Amino acid sequence: MGRNRFVVKMCLVMMAVVMMPALGRALDNGLAKTPPMGWNSWNKFGCKDLNEKVVRETADTMVSSGMKDAGYQFVILDDCWQTGRDASGNIVADAERFPSGIKALADYVHSKGLKFGIYTDVGTMTCAKRPGSIGHEYQDAKQYANWGIDYLKEDWCNTLPGQNSESSYTLMRNALADSGRPIVFSICEWGSTKPWLWAESIGNLWRATGDIQDCWDCKKDWGGNGVTQIIDQMNGLETYAGPGHWNDPDMLEVGNGGMTKEEYRAHFSMWAMFSAPLLAGNDISSMSPDTKEILLNKEVIGIDQDPLGRQAHRVKKTGDLEIWSKQLQDGGRAVVLLNRSPAAAKIAVAWTDIGYPDALSVSVRNLWSANDLGKQSGGYSADVPSHGVVMLTIKP
Ligand code: GLA
Repeated sequence: MGRNRFVVKMCLVMMAVVMMPALGRALDNGLAKTPPMGWNSWNKFGCKDLNEKVVRETADTMVSSGMKDAGYQFVILDDCWQTGRDASGNIVADAERFPSGIKALADYVHSKGLKFGIYTDVGTMTCAKRPGSIGHEYQDAKQYANWGIDYLKEDWCNTLPGQNSESSYTLMRNALADSGRPIVFSICEWGSTKPWLWAESIGNLWRATGDIQDCWDCKKDWGGNGVTQIIDQMNGLETYAGPGHWNDPDMLEVGNGGMTKEEYRAHFSMWAMFSAPLLAGNDISSMSPDTKEILLNKEVIGIDQDPLGRQAHRVKKTGDLEIWSKQLQDGGRAVVLLNRSPAAAKIAVAWTDIGYPDALSVSVRNLWSANDLGKQSGGYSADVPSHGVVMLTIKP
């Protein structure tokens, strides 16, 4: 009897030891079970035009435009809200641009039923040369929690020689956990040390690519990318994304003026296929009807927010014509027919391309024209505009 109890005890201890690393693996802050949605100041306002008026107007419009009802939630201040540190080392906001202070701004955003985010950097200075968090991680996290911050983006500029990304971000993860406030943690090291391999237990999302540019196809020497370059870099990363931990292909450029309506539609569709964070990066207080139509397409947003949390992958590529498929929670698929060529083209998807038997009869719906296309077997083909998409749901 005594021996049996000993054996049972030993088995339990061994099971606990084997399970422990698994339990420690996932980031257990319980946040971002679907990809975060909201707005970030950087793409449109950069450093020079950021101030509290912009942030208040953005919060107002997020509600009045219907964006909040469509799921957009976070209002995020990017670089340049901070100027220095006080004698005790506390981070200090720019008093000229944010005369009411960050706490008052967070309260205002919260009063609209929205959440508030902020930006810092793991190094000595941010990319725009404002103070970074190195050596102040716990102090900053405490301050953010006191201000009512709900989301932190941490950048990767001005690091020390040899600074390790995984341990730097782990330090801030621990500081945030210690702050006592649930704060979504967004890692922003541009994919340079392959965060998809180590960040699942550290951040809720991680940038997988360099900075997005407001253009379709325009790789920059310093690491900036157009939409098509980012699409290519996201393919192959699909196994690393899931509820609470997402690959981040950077913020949206929809509405910033550098691309056509078709290109913006393709950009938004592909980000939804990637289960990407949908962070609008335009001036939402003055949106054109086309921009609104894209950012507020609830069916496309629904694909991004599908609770299964799968990231699409490319199932077929014939030159510039591509087929992307994303498995949905209900067993259906979202499919994008993507035409990267300079001319309109027909693209045909076969059910066997997306893991269904040829003879299966499925319901097809076009999400941008909001049309049910009836039951189809074998496959479906459509004319796709240049630099554009046809986006479908396919339900067995
Ligand atoms: C880096 C980031 C951008 C933005 C800027 C701010 O380039 O990747 O998203 O935050 O810094 O300086």
